[in-house]
Amino acid sequence: MANTVEGDSTGAMDLARSLVQRAERIMALTGAGVSAESGVPTFRGAGGLWKQYRAEDLATPEAFARDARLVWEWYGWRRSLVLGCAPNAAHRALASASAVRPAFHVVTQNVDGLHAVAAGGTASLPLELHGSLFRIRCTACGRRQDDRSAIDATTTETLPHCDTCGALMRPDIVWFGEPLDPAGFGEAVRLASAADVCLVVGTSAVVHPAAGLADLTRRAGGAIIEVNVDSTPITGVATAVLRGPAAEIVPELLRDE
Ligand code: OAD
Repeated sequence: MANTVEGDSTGAMDLARSLVQRAERIMALTGAGVSAESGVPTFRGAGGLWKQYRAEDLATPEAFARDARLVWEWYGWRRSLVLGCAPNAAHRALASASAVRPAFHVVTQNVDGLHAVAAGGTASLPLELHGSLFRIRCTACGRRQDDRSAIDATTTETLPHCDTCGALMRPDIVWFGEPLDPAGFGEAVRLASAADVCLVVGTSAVVHPAAGLADLTRRAGGAIIEVNVDSTPITGVATAVLRGPAAEIVPELLRDE
């Protein structure tokens, strides 16, 4: 185990705050837990199931080929749920830190778009590694478009179809078994490798390659700060572990930024 300082003790918070203050370059890597207090369910843990399905049962090209209607029904439900949610204090603190500090970058696995909403019109938009709930892509010609409409998953015919070629559209999301966009992931690797601090917020850190980014920071000599309500595979290698809800911990951590 690394020299981890863990807990809600002032020791862990003081250490984490001094790491942030001394750092020149910071990458925040976020997962579903950062949006939990906005009302968006996480994938794993309590409330992680939709009907009897896990994300790994639905977020795959095979599931879409087998039953596009069912997969779209799940994404339609998630989309309508997220449309009723707003960014929380953690999204806002991360957005203002990245607006103020040029070398503070947010990289997210989330497809809910809440980091971007919190960033508003600023130039410091998050890097969305897994795509977006609000973008769709043609399964035949590859055309992409923004789309926030309600999904009618009554039959395959009522699902979104391409305006150009008429083929079925799919969510523009990276599914299990699919590669991440090489340009986006390459940028995340560059940011993680150059970061003095990787701030890991609300991710179970089990889905690769995103889960490996914090280790790039550590191997290059940087520190990891973990914010999570629970322990994860990252906990043992983190320099500081802050246990608690992201919407409380992150604003406290970044309050001078
Ligand atoms: P998970 O659902 O796997 O993990 C959520 C993490 O957030 C867990 O470690 C929780 O302990 C933590 N958590 C829950 N509430 C929290 C709170 N209020 N504050 C801080 N932490 C909290 O979500 P991800 O790690 O994002 O991919 O999952 C990674 C990927 O797997 C997702 O992008 C998605 C999923 O299946 C695809 O859909 C392709």
